[in-house]
Amino acid sequence: MADTAKMSIGEKTVELPILKGVDGPDVVDIRKLYAEADVFTYDPGFTSTASCESKITFIDGDAGILLHRGYPIDQLAEKSSFLEVCYLLLHGELPSAAEAEEFEKTITYHTMLHEQFDRFFQGFRRDAHPMAIMVGAVGALSAFYHDSTNVEDPQQRMISSHRLIAKMPTIAARAFKYFRGQPFVHPRNDLSYAENFLRMCFSVPAEDWVPNPVLTRAMDRIFILHADHEQNASTSTVRLAGSSGANPFACIAAGIACLWGPSHGGANEEALNMLKEIGTVDRIPEYVQGVKDRRYRLMGFGHRVYKNYDPRATVMQKTCHEVLAEVGNSDDPLLKVAIELERIALSDPYFIERKLYPNVDFYSGITLRALGFPPEMFTVLFAVARTVGWIAQWKEMIEDPLQKIGRPRQIYTGSPARDYTAISTR
Ligand code: CMC
Repeated sequence: MADTAKMSIGEKTVELPILKGVDGPDVVDIRKLYAEADVFTYDPGFTSTASCESKITFIDGDAGILLHRGYPIDQLAEKSSFLEVCYLLLHGELPSAAEAEEFEKTITYHTMLHEQFDRFFQGFRRDAHPMAIMVGAVGALSAFYHDSTNVEDPQQRMISSHRLIAKMPTIAARAFKYFRGQPFVHPRNDLSYAENFLRMCFSVPAEDWVPNPVLTRAMDRIFILHADHEQNASTSTVRLAGSSGANPFACIAAGIACLWGPSHGGANEEALNMLKEIGTVDRIPEYVQGVKDRRYRLMGFGHRVYKNYDPRATVMQKTCHEVLAEVGNSDDPLLKVAIELERIALSDPYFIERKLYPNVDFYSGITLRALGFPPEMFTVLFAVARTVGWIAQWKEMIEDPLQKIGRPRQIYTGSPARDYTAISTR
């Protein structure tokens, strides 16, 4: 392929460099287009626009491939641990044994929250949605940890990254406990990341949480599956917020707000609601007809990038079966509905033509419910896991010498210039 693209606009021809990544389609560099041709490009939803250069995650949506720093997601889910994946995303390489030990210790010793932080939760209505609490509480971290908000200082950037990865499960568990009306449970340094989180969610003063290796492993794997996903809506939100120099805690709060929407992280909650609404296998054809009539979408299906099976969905489906077998619920009627719905959708021309496959959210709702979480917590768990991806991408952006404040252009279609008229004449 040529290394420049030619664009003709009226009499003018502009030569634009073509950039090559390690993999994925070539990219036409349009940075000089406005200066040389006096035009903008138009791409709502960024369907054809690369907003940055990144070395963290690669997705081949047609082939159903997801790599973190080059490592396939299925290998990481099978062989690695969430904290090891956190290290990989943050530092670019898998840790040595000594680095892994030090990293685990650092994260473990940052899990506690400032005592005054707990008072913050009391301001929420007792039935507040845990995601509403997350948006507010994570933003409030910037009011407690002033010593790690200077984005120009690499050491402060690393400290805030560790704090966010470490404190997010504690905040998430508190959001859950507050929503449930139960007392907060403090983290314990002798437990793993996933164990600590499950214990902080499910332990009550009257009865301690009983560890279960299958469920702990499933929780850890769910965290791995959601750790990063290149330039999705919430990550792009974090990058855009951070491009102005805002502190990392505020940027991650912005990411959480974006994640909440049903087209993004909120889809796992919606997918479970959909399976409940369908209820039984015999109602699937009627429901699928409603999707074809465009009355609603099949939640947990389709993806902007994957036009093939989402590789995370394959691991999630396996994890779902393992968890249901462990909790003695292999006959869960919703699992039957999900399996049959997937079978019907994958053989129906409507879904085949549009390349709609199950995404990570299709089986995650049933799995998380079996782990004991109510639907309101599903997106919160996604936020806990995605924090490392957001912070790794934020750091990469800050450290990129080409980084500029994000400032998209527009096509203005409003009124042309006109003179103000006095109210009496309107
Ligand atoms: N059910 C039915 N039809 C769908 C669906 C769906 N879930 N998703 C896309 N379509 C159809 C859509 O109607 C359109 O058809 P047509 O060309 O006839 O108008 C075509 O497929 C392309 O859809 P689009 O809206 O242009 O695609 P998009 O890339 O803008 O949307 C999406 C991606 C994820 C927002 C969308 O697939 C969706 O709404 N899915 C359901 C929500 C969901 O599961 N989200 C989780 C995504 S994975 C986790 C995450 O990223 O947070």
